[in-house]
Amino acid sequence: EFKPLVFSGVQPTGNLHLGNYLGAIKKFVALQDSNDCIYCVVDLHALTAQLVHQDMKSQIRSITAAFLASGIDPQKHIVFNQSAVPQHAELAWIFNCVARIGWMERMTQFKDKTGSKNAEQVSLGLLAYPSLMAADILVYRATHVPVGDDQKQHLELARDIAMKFNLDFADLIRANGTGVDIKVGDEPVHAYFPMVEPLIDGPAPRVMSLKDGTKKMSKSDASDLSRINLMDDAETIAKKIRKAKTDPDALPSEVAGLAGRPEADNLIGIFAALAEKTKAEVLSEFGGQQFSVFKPALIELAVDKLAPVNGEMRRLMDDPGHIDDVLRDGGARARVLAEKTMNEVRDIIGF
Ligand code: ADP
Ligand code: NA
Repeated sequence: EFKPLVFSGVQPTGNLHLGNYLGAIKKFVALQDSNDCIYCVVDLHALTAQLVHQDMKSQIRSITAAFLASGIDPQKHIVFNQSAVPQHAELAWIFNCVARIGWMERMTQFKDKTGSKNAEQVSLGLLAYPSLMAADILVYRATHVPVGDDQKQHLELARDIAMKFNLDFADLIRANGTGVDIKVGDEPVHAYFPMVEPLIDGPAPRVMSLKDGTKKMSKSDASDLSRINLMDDAETIAKKIRKAKTDPDALPSEVAGLAGRPEADNLIGIFAALAEKTKAEVLSEFGGQQFSVFKPALIELAVDKLAPVNGEMRRLMDDPGHIDDVLRDGGARARVLAEKTMNEVRDIIGF
């Protein structure tokens, strides 16, 4: 069996929002008590959709500050930026040769991000993004990946890549003596790479836009009213929640009553995730009430939970030298782990 190890990453692109916080960072914090964790600012990924970033360095620091401000301990765990560990890109190249173009072209995120663009306008990196993501995780042979629901398909692809590597190189892995006996379904496999498990549970696995309950909350949404940013002050959070789209009905007293009411479902999910309750618990409190009662309670809760993170992020951003020290130290520790894997992978391949 593989030793349990948690890995996840966040891109240094734009403001972090409540979706990133509830879908990813808050889970990172919860997992650190009982797991070894590696949390990465995935700066190489940030080049895939947009090549030139005037403020890349400050964006990297800002994501790192969000990790630290949320309570991730960079001494017990590893916090670093991806480009500091070149083994990610090295393994990604090998995975580019393991994976098939069709696997990448089928990704819904790739289709969403390319839309009506033609192939001359889309970077090769955007197509290969999931291959680099698989390498990020597997260069540590990590087993568990906390992410939002939007990343589920990419994690299935990471499993496909790991499985194909294990099968294509089966004889060489056995000869190399570095594989681990695992079961995939009922099949015994002598695997070099584990089958990663996504951790997508919780009441808000996909936080939706405040303006349109059918679209995910996203950094790239043109309307700032669609998302709550981690750096928003209390007044801005209150304004955005007050303006959030709702329907005219009272809240249901059971979860089944949220069906067909995406905006209500989203706000109840956000409340539940922030309060660390289930949606059923939240509805047992607010069922039968109007949004005019629920929204002020949500504002109070959101401000109460986000203000300390916001304040600590600002404090940390005033000391970029400290953030850079954390990243340098994390990068050095990550490189040792990644190089151990790459040494074995190079041996397996025959380099
Ligand atoms: P974004 O999708 O905002 O560009 P990233 O791709 O860097 O950000 O994602 C960072 C993490 O935040 C990932 O685990 C992703 O699944 C999660 N995430 C992003 N948006 C949402 C959302 N609306 N709801 C839940 N999780 C999300
Ligand atoms: Na994403």
